[in-house]
Amino acid sequence: MAFDIDMIEKVYANFASRVEAARKVVNKPLTLTEKILYAHLWDGEATEAYERGSSYVDFAPDRVAMQDATAQMALLQFMQAGRPKVAVPSTAHCDHLIQAKVGAEEDLSRANSESKEVFDFLGSVSNKYGIGFWKPGAGIIHQVVLENYAFPGGMMIGTDSHTVNAGGLGMLAIGVGGADACDVMAGLPWELKFPKLIGVKLTGKLNGWTAPKDVILKVAGILTVKGGTGAIVEYFGEGATSMSCTGKGTICNMGAEIGATTSTFGYDESMERYLRATNRNQVADGANKIKAHLTADPEVYANPEKYFDQVIEINLSELEPHLNGPFTPDLATPVSKMKEEAVKNDWPLRVEWGLIGSCTNSSYEDLSRAASIARQAIDKKLVTKSSFGINPGSEQVRYTADRDGLLKTFEDLDATIFTNACGPCIGMWDRVGAERQERNTIVHSFNRNFAKRADGNPNTCAFVASPEMVAAIAISGRLDFNPITDTLTNADGQEVKLDAPHGDELPTKGFAVEDAGYQAPAADGSNVEVIVSPTSHRLQLLEPFKEWEGTDLTGLKLLIKAKGKCTTDHISMAGPWLKFRGHLDNISNNMLIGAVNYFNEKTDSVKNQLTGEYGPVPATQREYKAAGIGTLVVGDENYGEGSSREHAAMEPRHLGVRAVLVKSFARIHETNLKKQGMLALTFSNPADYDKIQEDDTIDIIGLTTFTPNQALEIVLHHADGSKDQFKVNHTYNAQQIEWFKAGAALNIIRKNISA
Ligand code: F3S
Repeated sequence: MAFDIDMIEKVYANFASRVEAARKVVNKPLTLTEKILYAHLWDGEATEAYERGSSYVDFAPDRVAMQDATAQMALLQFMQAGRPKVAVPSTAHCDHLIQAKVGAEEDLSRANSESKEVFDFLGSVSNKYGIGFWKPGAGIIHQVVLENYAFPGGMMIGTDSHTVNAGGLGMLAIGVGGADACDVMAGLPWELKFPKLIGVKLTGKLNGWTAPKDVILKVAGILTVKGGTGAIVEYFGEGATSMSCTGKGTICNMGAEIGATTSTFGYDESMERYLRATNRNQVADGANKIKAHLTADPEVYANPEKYFDQVIEINLSELEPHLNGPFTPDLATPVSKMKEEAVKNDWPLRVEWGLIGSCTNSSYEDLSRAASIARQAIDKKLVTKSSFGINPGSEQVRYTADRDGLLKTFEDLDATIFTNACGPCIGMWDRVGAERQERNTIVHSFNRNFAKRADGNPNTCAFVASPEMVAAIAISGRLDFNPITDTLTNADGQEVKLDAPHGDELPTKGFAVEDAGYQAPAADGSNVEVIVSPTSHRLQLLEPFKEWEGTDLTGLKLLIKAKGKCTTDHISMAGPWLKFRGHLDNISNNMLIGAVNYFNEKTDSVKNQLTGEYGPVPATQREYKAAGIGTLVVGDENYGEGSSREHAAMEPRHLGVRAVLVKSFARIHETNLKKQGMLALTFSNPADYDKIQEDDTIDIIGLTTFTPNQALEIVLHHADGSKDQFKVNHTYNAQQIEWFKAGAALNIIRKNISA
């Protein structure tokens, strides 16, 4: 049994009394989110009410999940912490390092040889420290977690921003950096700012071509990529309970795209069905016993405006299928408007690829609904106009879909079945011709569509849609195809229409699998050896970062003033760089190479103040480091949005950047910077961004009296001898200030363990 029933039973045994204690201190009816949060306080039963959006609270998550790209750094850090075993059930999943090229079998075997060293490292660290290990090909982390580990009312953290997917099974699952995962695995509390609450009331029922994906595509259009920042989204209403569990997972998954801390749904029959179908009767029975606590108090949903900070209502009966993009997941276009929008915006109408998969949409139900469209295309003698690729979410889904003929249907339509892995979703896609960088359109069922995300081509316009819409559009080959109204010409020259998709929420014959790809850890791992070669290009044991020198930081040089969007992809690009995720020095060669330099509008081209020459960002920073000069990175709004990868914080730290000063931060990235001992600062007055000049030398004043809620000061020494001085804010609490002083949070953990 992969899941830990003892842990779940313990959570359920305490749940009612903890909710009761919370109700007393909060003194009003509770949302589901509040119940789960208060049931997971590090100190046990609640003794005070926390203020949403401002109180920092210590929690005790039930589980940790890690994917291979981020697990390397998380586990390298955990090894530094000096513990013999993880303190909470944890798993590692090999899904990010498998490139999609020709098809599942060949791609997997190539990945197994190319990344052998990394997979062996993860397998042996997992074995040693009591971590469940999911081998390459076992599936995408969030599908595997939903199938095996997520449970209603639980709290989980994961080193991937789409950890939030587990909200589909009524969990609070939150994406974090490897440093946070390391803390929790080391038995320490996990700190989170008590979130604000957004309620989304779903009325009506999905029908026709509309899928759960369209709910979140619509929500993303309403809230934008920043609208969920600092908030947990709780879905409720008749529309919520009428949806499948994996459909709910899709909605929660893309909560990451609106910046939400996480999203969740109350426990209902769809979740019970899913738990039982995935062999977890004990979990379902346990959840049933405390059912009333696994959803909000009835007054909350009856009067949501009173209990949530913001409420959105969506009528599913009227919802249309959407296509969001290109280049940002919140540019929402209903399918009926695509014809005019595509022409107006000059989006290429011909669709080159339709891709189904990713942790967002690779469940059995997703494949079965998309296959129903594929089947019609075959029966109606239609030929797919676009190339077509499928990544099943897990080996269990793949095996079952294969048994039930779904994969054969796709193959009959010339689709390529890729490995049960992330593949194109994380840029691990050897797309033929991408290097020509031609402007083109693709449609996929993934969650992210930033420039270059899937194929590295900045001119690929990627649109996000439900799997069934991707299937229909790939068959038509046109972005502006509306399957609800339009016809297609078949091989006999007849005009035919696609009927609305249908599918099975769960396989009627049940799930099946021969080898799910799971390796249980050794009962006693003390003799298991973890090997990291000192000459490896992929893995490097970590050295602790240096302590703060105890003075203000003076004489810093401006490394880059980034303009506009600067996501973690811009700061630490994925794709080809994934292979260096376990080697800090090597991966640092991608630092900020995607960020646009404000002064010349170019990427990876900044002025080296020591030479006056322009050069790549990492090389320029290495020269400053060699000269013993610290630097400052300046950014715009929502800096670091996107993912939880702490490399985006560790690389600047490793190369000698001392502070990041921006108009606003994405939450996870801000925390990651703090964990690594960096200064994460925001302009008190965002207009001060304009005062930063290319040749500035910078001082950061106030560090010797660094205190929570007290602004620091920036002094800009401009090249012409003039000066500017202004206040900058920070959100460090007392503990986080200690991290800064110690050089990193991990330095404190190690000290505490050895003390
Ligand atoms: Fe993988 Fe893409 Fe999800 S990278 S974890 S499938 S967002």
